[in-house]
Amino acid sequence: MNLTFEPIQKIDGRSAAQLLKTSIRDVIKKNKIQHPEATLKEEMASKQLDLESYFSGRGPIELCFVAKHHDQIVGIIGYGKPNTIIQDHFRIQDERTPEVKNVYVLPTVQKRGVGTFMFDKVLKLLQKKQFDAYFLDSGYQSSQKYWQKKIGLPELVLKDYWEKGYHHMIWKQKL
Ligand SMILES: CC(C)(COP(=O)(O)OP(=O)(O)OC[C@H]1O[C@@H](n2cnc3c(N)ncnc32)[C@H](O)[C@@H]1OP(=O)(O)O)[C@@H](O)C(=O)NCCC(=O)NCCS
Repeated sequence: MNLTFEPIQKIDGRSAAQLLKTSIRDVIKKNKIQHPEATLKEEMASKQLDLESYFSGRGPIELCFVAKHHDQIVGIIGYGKPNTIIQDHFRIQDERTPEVKNVYVLPTVQKRGVGTFMFDKVLKLLQKKQFDAYFLDSGYQSSQKYWQKKIGLPELVLKDYWEKGYHHMIWKQKL
């Protein structure tokens, strides 16, 4: 795929929200999450809020990027302040370690290298900015498989965090 990687612009906001909705709906279905519509609504409300506060220069996302294929957004990724689950389980008040967050690829182009392309770009950027580690977390079994294959075993597994058999995983990786 011929991909570009660029900081998200306000003009991308609507397409980015659409991508998030499609990708989250798909991942909820694949993981057989209970109460799919309520979960989608909740997840979208939080992502929407994050994006809006990002565009107004606030919020937990420090930088957010999109991958485009023929001018269409096919992926989104960002990094910023670790979320509350990470904060609650690591003593990180004094650390500046960022979280790589919001990694979403359009379902129709998944498993074609878009996630890898974006992730590599963000890791290079974090290295350039002289961070020496990053956090990443996941509550979906499908993406836990993906990250374990890509970056290895998580630092922490919060067993049955979501419901019985649905764990939450947190990685802390050196750069
Ligand atoms: C997880 C996600 C970001 C991966 O992006 P992607 O573009 O589909 O992945 P890539 O094409 O870069 O995959 C690279 C490799 O991982 C493998 N892979 C992809 N998805 C996988 C999965 N769910 N489980 C195991 N392996 C997977 C690919 O087969 C490929 O393997 P290879 O290098 O041996 O050929 C994407 O599937 C996605 O958006 N999922 C839904 C949202 C989500 O869960 N986001 C993460 C939140 S933490």
